[in-house]
Amino acid sequence: MPPSRSGCAAEASVPTPVRQEHRSVFPEPVRSFTRPLVPVKKVDHGEQADIVLPQLFTMNKLNVLMCGTGEYTTGWTGSGASKSDKKIGVVGLTLFDLRRLGKVDKLGMVGVNGSKFPAIRQHLEQNIGGVYKDMDLSFDEFPKGGQINPDAYKEAIDGMSAGDAIIVFTPDPTHYPICMYAIERGIHVLVTKPAVKLLSHHNELIAAAKKHNVVCFVEHHKRFDPAYSDAKAKAANLGEFNFFNAWMSQPKSQLETFRAWAGKDSDISYYLSSHHIDICCWILQGKAVPTRVVASAATGIATSEPYNCVPETEDTITLMVDWQSTSSPTHKGVGVYTASWTAPLKSGVHSAQHWYYMAEKGEVTVDQAHRGYDVTVDDTGKAWYNPFYMKYSPSESGHFDGQRGYGYVSIEKFVDAARSVNAGSTKPEDYDANGLPTIANTVLTTAILNAGRISLDEKRPVGIRKEGDKWVLE
Ligand SMILES: NC(=O)c1ccc[n+]([C@@H]2O[C@H](COP(=O)([O-])OP(=O)(O)OC[C@H]3O[C@@H](n4cnc5c(N)ncnc54)[C@H](O)[C@@H]3O)[C@@H](O)[C@H]2O)c1
Repeated sequence: MPPSRSGCAAEASVPTPVRQEHRSVFPEPVRSFTRPLVPVKKVDHGEQADIVLPQLFTMNKLNVLMCGTGEYTTGWTGSGASKSDKKIGVVGLTLFDLRRLGKVDKLGMVGVNGSKFPAIRQHLEQNIGGVYKDMDLSFDEFPKGGQINPDAYKEAIDGMSAGDAIIVFTPDPTHYPICMYAIERGIHVLVTKPAVKLLSHHNELIAAAKKHNVVCFVEHHKRFDPAYSDAKAKAANLGEFNFFNAWMSQPKSQLETFRAWAGKDSDISYYLSSHHIDICCWILQGKAVPTRVVASAATGIATSEPYNCVPETEDTITLMVDWQSTSSPTHKGVGVYTASWTAPLKSGVHSAQHWYYMAEKGEVTVDQAHRGYDVTVDDTGKAWYNPFYMKYSPSESGHFDGQRGYGYVSIEKFVDAARSVNAGSTKPEDYDANGLPTIANTVLTTAILNAGRISLDEKRPVGIRKEGDKWVLE
């Protein structure tokens, strides 16, 4: 028998809340509360009066397994706290806070090398437990006993129940097998960008998520940046698309953090341009489609001293994409998406990021790196910070205070969606209709990135077209 989904809405007028079945990973029962969505009615049948609750949804707390124990999950990079803007990570901190606020229950974390967990726990105790009040930092770890096991995610997921969730921040080539393993077991999935490297894998995840009726989102947090989402709405009123130009970069020092995989498992376009390609696809959803991609790259810095990345590593990649309007045969646009991980040190920003959108009736310019807020310190000089992404300073009561940061909101939206589907209050496909970064809504982002990689490797333009209901490359 397939495992039952936690907290599904019952068909009857007075449903019995369904409790989640728990096995080894999350052994204790989930605390739940019920939320009547409509007022209680009294129906009089002459002698008998029944209380009718037309519908009652059980909103269970969500159990979440974090896949990956690195910079984005914990802020721990193996050689100490990250030197980037994510010193205490994003995923773990957000989930600990969502547990404090009653949305999340049991947590697990899976990596490859179990011997890292004592240092990770100490890092979290010191920098989260020691800084914010009322944080429960407990989580179950995999692989256990300090073992090394790249397949430990299977054991961790096998211990979960349908309706639980995973959040995946692992190297790009591992996203597809981990996500597919979870989806096939009825587990909701939030996967970091780039969702997968191949368009064929993206198509398979769309189909699997549909078949197993789970929420599958890509963690494109920039869609929740207030400036970006407002700009998207403004761009919608500017008529036919004409030109989009995006730049995103990180300082060369990041190559020390990324050395293990940079140029081997992924490239800078997948790593950084994925953000702005997704924003452009989001703005153009329903307005235009990409038809052709040509890529160019600069090289020589990442492969030299002191970074010594593998010879295939590009420094800066530009993808030039042709777009065709879906309503006007004569309107065509061009998108240029450039990303680099060899930007200068000490430029004052961790990620330089700006874009320009031009359409028939106007233009939009966004500079997300400089937000009218900078700090200058004698020793280190001037730096521009972005508390709109993650705000790490505590509240006046000593609690974590970054609930409005778009890094946090992105994870919370997924947690809310998974709980709502578990409760039977919404269906996974509802989220495709409202502009969220679902696996179905992000397919063209992967199509462009995959086409860009092929264009670089094979030194040719790559076409994108729809075949039936699937996007394919040619
Ligand atoms: N660091 C960032 O700022 C950032 C931001 C957004 C997205 N991402 C994305 O996150 C992913 C990488 O995460 P990170 O930045 O935390 O990297 P990281 O290198 O710091 O950590 C990667 C983690 O993945 C784990 N891992 C590797 N193979 C695994 C497997 N088979 N099963 C379970 N865990 C495995 C490693 O043990 C490690 O803990 C990439 O896809 C990247 O594009 C990173």
